[in-house]
Amino acid sequence: MQIQAIQQSISELEVDAAVVGIYEGGVLPEVAQQLDQVTGGGLQALLDANEVEGKLGDTAVWLSPPSVATTHLLIVGLGPQEEVSPPTAFRAAAIAAKQLAGKSRARVAFCLDASWSASVVESAVCGSLVGCVGQDLYRNEKNLHPPEEVLWHTEETVAVEQGQVIAESVNLTRRLVNEPADVIYPETFAEIATQEAADSGFEIEVWDEDRLREEKCGSLLGVARGSDRPARLLVMRHRGSESKHPELALVGKGVTFDSGGLSLKPSEGMKAMKCDMAGAATVLGTMRGIARLQMPHHVLGVVGLVENMVSGNSYKLGDVLRARNGKTIEVLNTDAEGRLVLADALDVARDDEPEKMINLATLTGACVVALGTDVVGLMTNDQAWCDRIAETAASCGERAWQLPMFPEFAEQILSKVADIKNIGEGRWGGAITAGKFLEEFVGDTTWTHMDIAGPAFQENEKPEMDAGGSGVMVRTLLELVRTGC
Ligand code: BES
Ligand code: MN
Ligand code: ZN
Repeated sequence: MQIQAIQQSISELEVDAAVVGIYEGGVLPEVAQQLDQVTGGGLQALLDANEVEGKLGDTAVWLSPPSVATTHLLIVGLGPQEEVSPPTAFRAAAIAAKQLAGKSRARVAFCLDASWSASVVESAVCGSLVGCVGQDLYRNEKNLHPPEEVLWHTEETVAVEQGQVIAESVNLTRRLVNEPADVIYPETFAEIATQEAADSGFEIEVWDEDRLREEKCGSLLGVARGSDRPARLLVMRHRGSESKHPELALVGKGVTFDSGGLSLKPSEGMKAMKCDMAGAATVLGTMRGIARLQMPHHVLGVVGLVENMVSGNSYKLGDVLRARNGKTIEVLNTDAEGRLVLADALDVARDDEPEKMINLATLTGACVVALGTDVVGLMTNDQAWCDRIAETAASCGERAWQLPMFPEFAEQILSKVADIKNIGEGRWGGAITAGKFLEEFVGDTTWTHMDIAGPAFQENEKPEMDAGGSGVMVRTLLELVRTGC
């Protein structure tokens, strides 16, 4: 896909479709005013007749208005002008883009508001490139057709370029999540990450099973045992500053398929479990963006990649695993595998003594019960760090909400045979007992856990995005690093 900033006015554009924005309350940005003029007051007439109102994300198609070369005009509501922000701009552009992608169109122009600031343009451009990409990877007849060329009416050329980089990072994460588990498994994920590292310019180290054994990653390897696909762990690094220690470490759960293991999931609970590597895909998408945007920070990315399967060699209930940090873990449910993978991945990240750490994981159904399918659960050992993350997410329009980490929850994971066990007592508060488990592996590092089980994979499409992998938190993490970690 090609993307370009342009200055031509809408009547001169030779495109297959153009998007024009209007504000709620009938305020017309300059482009829309021009359009109104060349159509002899046609746009104002639509407003007067209440055919268009400008509510955020409302759309109306205007087929071949007189004096405009473009046959297909899409009017999109931008919401109230005084509320324009990166999130509203993302949403309006994404909705318009998704709608236009319903048909194959080679050249599409977005003429929303040329007076927008760089950060609003960047977010809008990102929306326009995320909204047009779907999960229909294997459909012969696609539902969504990303245009070959996307033009943006703005002078903010750098913002256009950066918006594209961010969108492509989000879309990489989405694609990896959408690919079936027979395509994306630990080895292929590692290959794709290695290629991305070469293309985007970050360092990568791939740990194979021998290395994982040498490193005593017994917790991660326990989960991997039941699968014919060998485990991998990736250590990625963007050295954008001289800082010896990483300013930030990102750690991802990469369970490329979660059958539940011997604690087998029922079909209904298993059918979307190709998405269980979304944490790892988020880390990879973010590392790509950080490298491509050449951010002046030292960022480490660690992902643990395994398949949780059933076989004669599967890890069993009652097994005791020894994690890399020396703690012993009694396995009482093989479906609580994500925390076992993260236990070792977090410890690997700690080797480098990062200043701060974030892990991302589709960790618990309980978090989805608590917060629904659109909200990321945050759990932390450092309130200021969690606040900073929550504010950044809000500034990007991504939903995140904190859950408490009261010490009582940690009592639930004490074991009578080992140091800890991998599930709590009963299912109540399951998102938090999982968070407490992870806390056992972060030591005194400033840390926040993001449970993305709800938002990472969407069963239903939204006006601004197709169903499937959402790429949630890639934008937030990029913004977090950009604004200084
Ligand atoms: N990958 C699942 C969590 C999940 C559920 C992700 C729904 C996305 C959507 C995780 O490995 C899991 O199975 N968790 C168990 C934990 C339980 C056994 C303590 C769960 O949530 O049921
Ligand atoms: Mn599981
Ligand atoms: Zn899982």
